[in-house]
Amino acid sequence: MTTPVPHEPSPHSGASLVPAPGRLSAGPSGGGRCSIDGATTIEAAPGTEGVARWLRTTVGAATGYPLPPSHGEDAPRIVLRISPEPGGEPDGPEAYRLSAAGRRVVVGGASAAGVFWGAQTLRQLLGPDAFRRAPVTVRDAWEFPAVTIHDRPRFRWRGLLLDVARHFMPKDGVLRYLDLMAAHKLNVLHLHLTDDQGWRLPVERYPRLTGAGSWRPRTKFGHRASPLWEEKPHGGHYTRDDIREIVAYAAERHITVVPEIDVPGHSQAAIAAYPELGNTDVVDTASLTVWDDWGISPNVLAPTDATLRFYEHVLEEVLELFPSRYVHVGGDECPKDQWRRSPTAQARIAELGLADEDGLQAWFVGHFGRWLSERGRRLVGWDEILQGGPPEGATVSSWRGRAGGVAAARAGHDVVMCPEQEVYLDHRQAPGDDEPVPIGWVRTLEDVYRFEPVPPELEPEHARHVLGAQANLWSEVTEDQNRVDYQAFPRLAAFAEVAWSALPAPAERDFADFEQRMSAHYRRLDALGVAYRPPTGPLPWQRRPGVRGRPLDGPPPVR
Ligand code: ACM
Repeated sequence: MTTPVPHEPSPHSGASLVPAPGRLSAGPSGGGRCSIDGATTIEAAPGTEGVARWLRTTVGAATGYPLPPSHGEDAPRIVLRISPEPGGEPDGPEAYRLSAAGRRVVVGGASAAGVFWGAQTLRQLLGPDAFRRAPVTVRDAWEFPAVTIHDRPRFRWRGLLLDVARHFMPKDGVLRYLDLMAAHKLNVLHLHLTDDQGWRLPVERYPRLTGAGSWRPRTKFGHRASPLWEEKPHGGHYTRDDIREIVAYAAERHITVVPEIDVPGHSQAAIAAYPELGNTDVVDTASLTVWDDWGISPNVLAPTDATLRFYEHVLEEVLELFPSRYVHVGGDECPKDQWRRSPTAQARIAELGLADEDGLQAWFVGHFGRWLSERGRRLVGWDEILQGGPPEGATVSSWRGRAGGVAAARAGHDVVMCPEQEVYLDHRQAPGDDEPVPIGWVRTLEDVYRFEPVPPELEPEHARHVLGAQANLWSEVTEDQNRVDYQAFPRLAAFAEVAWSALPAPAERDFADFEQRMSAHYRRLDALGVAYRPPTGPLPWQRRPGVRGRPLDGPPPVR
């Protein structure tokens, strides 16, 4: 037992910034106030016009101030500029320095991204009402204590996975999450677009992928053990213009959208749409439907040339729509039973001289690794791609704990750490039986705050392969925006601080200080309309009595 000590507020507590900045001091000259008002202009250096636009649409809307472009030296202003090393030291492209005093705010970033993160900090400094979309009161000025901040991210991959396949998230929901990510300085949206239960990406060449593959006649309500079904069709998909809009909206917020097309498992929706993609020599794939249960479907892709060509065509359209250098091809949880029984798959194993079905999966994924690198892109896969050897240059999402990430980094692969035991946000966040549809491990706000992306066992020379961390929010039990919000928040705020801020080792992290800053941050989330889990537990309408998740004291979850 540790003795509780009275908590000393840290220098971060006053401004209550989340994630905590690197260095914050009162100033520039040790005190005073800063304000913006109806006369404030924006002086945007070339390259920062997007940040100025963002400030007008958010802070401008919340304050009611027009924030026009500056003309004239004397106007009170927000100055946006790009300066190569805003901290006076090589801080990386996303670093920024913010100084605010009197009627002047200067945000200097190492790149436009740095300026954008500085603008996010400015919005937090202005107070919770700066997160509303219209002024709640007319104010002569918005004031906050003068401050100087030097800040930069710890990691360059600060990700969130949204699973829009199990339950579709309409376009507006994705745009809203991009705003929520930006407010927390997260910069990678991993969009899980395809799975057994639905295909959400439009593919012009194969219209049945969304035509038949994007909806199911009913849905299991609760997790797999639940006997409840919702007898109502569930579905939806994006249009190509929706995707273009999502990508552009993300880019304006310095967020990369990494698309995931999951192969060769998690593919029943695609097989239901195009039965020839499945193992037709061992299953009657023509009778398959989009899956209406949770878990891992045994129906996986056939390892044939025709399947490879089909997915090359799909990926050609993916590359057209998504500029991301990284393209995720899944590779997780591919049951090998059909391949064991399939003469076609066995003939392929023999023809390629492979040891077994794991080798066949490695060959399948490896094909797309080469295909993507020939096109200047990089394959990302779940850590199962390590079995049988990952493609050269592949990046690994380490989800079954840390071991995959450690092995991959030691072998010279970049890794993104997203261990399910620590940062799966669909898992319950408290042990109480009033948690809505509780699944997985209990991972509290504090647990997430003490998540360490760099595995302690990893040698320093390999740690540079840890690109960063990602929180994954699977959607089997989150059927609408409120449920997604409940699972994501407040834990995503803790995760963002882990990914952005230079925190000490987990045991030394000042969770009391974080909680104190969170009390201000909850007011920001309120203004943003986020249906987070209150620290006191679920509100009555956030509970889901009678809907089964996993037994509270049951074995570790199997997805
Ligand atoms: C996963 O959770 N199957 C990546």
